[in-house]
Amino acid sequence: MKTVHVNASVNYDIIIEKGSLNKVGAYASSVFKRGSKAAVITDDTVASLYLDQVVPSLSAAGYTVASYIFPHGEDSKSAETLFRVYDFLIEEQLTRPDFIVALGGGVVGDLAGYAAATYLRGIRFMQVPTTFLAAVDSSVGGKTAINIPAGKNLIGAFWQPSLVVCDTETFKTLPAVTFADGVAETIKYGMIFSAPLFERMEQGNIMPEIDEIIAHCVSIKRDVVEQDEHDNGLRMILNYGHTLGHAIEKVTNHSVTHGQGVAMGMLLIAKLGEKLGYHSSALTQRLEACIRSYGLPTHYEGSVAELGEAVLHDKKRSGSSIRLIFVKEPGSAEIISLDVNQFLRLLREV
Ligand SMILES: NC(=O)c1ccc[n+]([C@@H]2O[C@H](COP(=O)([O-])OP(=O)(O)OC[C@H]3O[C@@H](n4cnc5c(N)ncnc54)[C@H](O)[C@@H]3O)[C@@H](O)[C@H]2O)c1
Ligand SMILES: [Zn+2]
Repeated sequence: MKTVHVNASVNYDIIIEKGSLNKVGAYASSVFKRGSKAAVITDDTVASLYLDQVVPSLSAAGYTVASYIFPHGEDSKSAETLFRVYDFLIEEQLTRPDFIVALGGGVVGDLAGYAAATYLRGIRFMQVPTTFLAAVDSSVGGKTAINIPAGKNLIGAFWQPSLVVCDTETFKTLPAVTFADGVAETIKYGMIFSAPLFERMEQGNIMPEIDEIIAHCVSIKRDVVEQDEHDNGLRMILNYGHTLGHAIEKVTNHSVTHGQGVAMGMLLIAKLGEKLGYHSSALTQRLEACIRSYGLPTHYEGSVAELGEAVLHDKKRSGSSIRLIFVKEPGSAEIISLDVNQFLRLLREV
């Protein structure tokens, strides 16, 4: 078992432990008042696999439990689902001492977290991530959101969970592609903040040490979030590979997953970094080999011009320059402003 403590606007523990799904109630009882109500929000896939472990565990700990299940997938991270969740919370008469349990991947965590942030002007919630990506990234740090037709995550709030409980046994049922999305984010953490973590990812066979690897990732995220909870500066570093990654996701109409986009985004940035003389080709080759070894894509096949367009619509652009995160050697990242035209030219050359 590993515990990482977060000291943000809310202080909370992240507990990473195999088999902890059955202990969710016991862990909750150190944070939420016994006798209060727990509203579990999850998707249909996760519900069919794990709800029957979480509900009895919460009941046994003395909570009244109600659950709401919505269809899995990014399309559910919508205003429609959110309003159905509000209706459910009202029907179940949840009040301030009660809490929400977000059981699932990043879609559940983001949506249930935003419901918690806004229902009755905010009630407490806990995250129970069941995807690798949610474990290393979305369940920690307090960013919650839904998508609207104009774009992803455009409506949201900073709202920290009061507890995170991650049972890595749940990863056994993840489709390989979904697991690999978490791998891409983990490689990202190594590249930006920790050479040993990157080297560990290069070695492969990560399952035996998955709890330690997650603890490492979330401590990195914790350190960043504690310094810049509301994303005014340093937190941008966590977006390494994401500006181009998001653009790839967008131009492919999301047929490329988030992790796949991030993987290709990191590699494109490494190639730009090489052109700019920030590092040798050896770093790009190491990154490429690492990404490939987990079955993640290494090459963006589509039109780079279209990609450039998509990037320029990205919110990170300010005036005629674009701020990007470069890694000069594993473990050390820098935010660098590039002239937009130079960026587009370099992108065409890589
Ligand atoms: N808030 C943040 O800081 C943050 C950070 C990164 C990503 N995100 C968001 O996270 C979302 C992506 O998260 P995700 O990749 O976890 O997606 P997801 O929640 O859609 O999960 C992926 C799929 O796996 C299924 N699933 C979940 N756990 C399972 C398990 N243990 N076994 C089998 N199937 C399982 C789900 O039902 C779903 O179909 C995006 O909406 C993204 O915007 C948020
Ligand atoms: Zn990401």
